[in-house]
Amino acid sequence: MNNKQRIRLIITIFLMPLMASAQKKTISQRVDSLLRLMTLDEKIGQLNQYSGKQVTGPESKVKTDLINDIRNGRVGSMLNVKGVKDTREIQAVAMQSRLKIPLLFSLDVIHGYKTVFPIPLAEAASWDLDAIRLSAHIAAKEAAAAGIHWTFAPMVDIARDPRWGRIMEGAGEDTYLGSLIAVARVKGFQGEQLGGTDAVMACAKHFAGYGAAMAGRDYNAVDMSEHQLWETYLPPFKAAADAGVATFMNSFNTLNGIPATGNSYLQRNILKRKWNYQGFVVSDWGSIGEMVPWGFANNDADAAEKAIKAGSDMDMESRTYKSYLAKLVKEGKVPEALIDDAVKRILYKKFELGLFDNPYKFSDAKREADVLNDGGHKTIARNVARKSIVLLKNQGNVLPLTKSKTKIALIGPLVKSKRDMDGSWTVNADTTQITSLYEGVKGKLAKKTELLYEKGCNISGNDKPDFTEALRIAGQADIVVMALGETWDMSGEAKSRTNIHLPGQQEALFNAVKATGKPVVVVLMAGRPLIFSDIAAKANAIVYAWWLGDEAGNAIADVLFGDYNPSGKLPVTFPRNEGQIPLGYTYYNTGRPVKNPENIIYKSAYIDSPNTPQYAFGYGLSYTSFSYTDLTLSAAKMHHTDNVTVSFRLTNTGKYAGEEVVQLYVHDEVASVVRPVKELKGFQKVFLKAGESKTVSFVINKEKLSFYNSKLQWAAEPGNFEIMIGTASDDIKLTAEMELL
Ligand code: NOJ
Repeated sequence: MNNKQRIRLIITIFLMPLMASAQKKTISQRVDSLLRLMTLDEKIGQLNQYSGKQVTGPESKVKTDLINDIRNGRVGSMLNVKGVKDTREIQAVAMQSRLKIPLLFSLDVIHGYKTVFPIPLAEAASWDLDAIRLSAHIAAKEAAAAGIHWTFAPMVDIARDPRWGRIMEGAGEDTYLGSLIAVARVKGFQGEQLGGTDAVMACAKHFAGYGAAMAGRDYNAVDMSEHQLWETYLPPFKAAADAGVATFMNSFNTLNGIPATGNSYLQRNILKRKWNYQGFVVSDWGSIGEMVPWGFANNDADAAEKAIKAGSDMDMESRTYKSYLAKLVKEGKVPEALIDDAVKRILYKKFELGLFDNPYKFSDAKREADVLNDGGHKTIARNVARKSIVLLKNQGNVLPLTKSKTKIALIGPLVKSKRDMDGSWTVNADTTQITSLYEGVKGKLAKKTELLYEKGCNISGNDKPDFTEALRIAGQADIVVMALGETWDMSGEAKSRTNIHLPGQQEALFNAVKATGKPVVVVLMAGRPLIFSDIAAKANAIVYAWWLGDEAGNAIADVLFGDYNPSGKLPVTFPRNEGQIPLGYTYYNTGRPVKNPENIIYKSAYIDSPNTPQYAFGYGLSYTSFSYTDLTLSAAKMHHTDNVTVSFRLTNTGKYAGEEVVQLYVHDEVASVVRPVKELKGFQKVFLKAGESKTVSFVINKEKLSFYNSKLQWAAEPGNFEIMIGTASDDIKLTAEMELL
């Protein structure tokens, strides 16, 4: 090491942390000085968030009132104002206020701003954390270039009920996978450091338990044990907090009788005290006011008091803070210190973003034009889209298709659809950029290859359609590719369904086409796991494509023709029928497990359905095949401070290069609290050329064996553990036993 390097090292080790903390101090000091200048009304103003749909629209009373409120320092943040022109214009109004405190512009940038990426549930199927992070980052980059400072994403709610329409917005059913994806998304959205003009603040939502809304009905109550809460639902939030997520959003549901918005156990005890979280909490839309119809608050004033006391810092759109907080403080019902704490948290973020130095920092017209027209974003979207596809069936290797000499009939209501591809959360999509499946397939074929098309039926509705034309073209084709599923607005917020079978006459269309005897490949598109029993039983191949965004058609065609070998795995269980819901892979053995499906009498079983799902968590095929052999453990016993390395040989035994998601599951055989039959504790996505093989290893440490014990402490208990390596949660290839001493 030369002198120069030595000096650099000394600076890194000793001075950088000091400089960072000095800078941090500076922000705190700036926040404190500003707070001292603020009137109570101005402080409360920072806690208000308004939707700005009308603020940039034609003249109206609402618009005038909103502008006046902003000018008078009564608004801290706007949602739904976007684009450089509008954000500049509205920020300029905030700059006319007495203290010139900049507004935060926020938006639901869930899976893309202009370039639309796959829905979050689809991306979770990629099990590719780098691809997920990059997708979030590009979404953030585009949003930040359009004046946005803050996205209401990621949704990190664990969801095990496909009736719940919002299952599309999360990472699926698993806590381990969901926590890693939460971190990837937070890091993707927020970039290296808050304040970069290629990043936005992220928001971990909905705190907490929303994914467990009773009976899968949106905005409903949630009842769960402390064990469930800590073990299943809180970890992705904790992971997001540890990854530095700038904000949290609370939720519409109650948790064990207390609305999350008025829940001080969640927001104060857990989040702000136990986890020492320094960011701020925004309510969900109107959720403070909704505590009145819940029967938790007498009126809006009471709701405002309960929410601020419980730790909800910013009021999204209920306007109860604006209307009642000042009075509540003056009456001595709400200590001003609580308001100060909430304001400080919000101001801190505004300083971190650099908005006090330049309130228009994110509103640069040239950057907006450059970033939103960056052609590279499409390539990134196509890449993550094809990784998100799950191949569910491929009987007789009917896929991949050949590009010439095959006459393909494309049949189904989603073949030429475009808008549906983008799913339900789009905020600034350019629908002219969407590639349909028809276009994607057409683009692959040699010029002279004929492509037949017929819609066949609508997505919903039960009028008996005329299948004649569909059957005629099926008869002419060598192979039929059908595109079936939901419309974009059948999943998402407020889109719960009791019947999650493929809607309308689509399965009837499939049955008719299949009866022609031609091989049928079904591409299913949806925002949730659907039920499609006839297709599962009879289709030659099934490709689950979710909603893949702008590049859907190209990505699906890449998979159909083998330009990309599918590697996606289900992040959520697909039930056989609605009666099994909620259904997941982390079930319990019970005292009466079904050992033999032929003998279920007095067993924990249904008399009209198997317990098993249609497709299990972690399941997904490839065009190649993999073998798992030679499992070894570096030791069969370990002490709490030890590690055990689990290794095995993975071989690509098929004809194609491909990626396999190898999965590590653990089962604690006897414990003070009964443990699920298996829990995911590790995975790796391994690429192998045809014939290639590789040793894959996982390290088992105390952390991987821990759970919330009977005293609700996170700990590992001595005893035997089953170690499982599999290609899916229901397809375990290798097992071994080990003991924790
Ligand atoms: C309600 C949704 O629950 C939430 O996730 C979203 O961010 C807000 N609306 C704002 O649009």
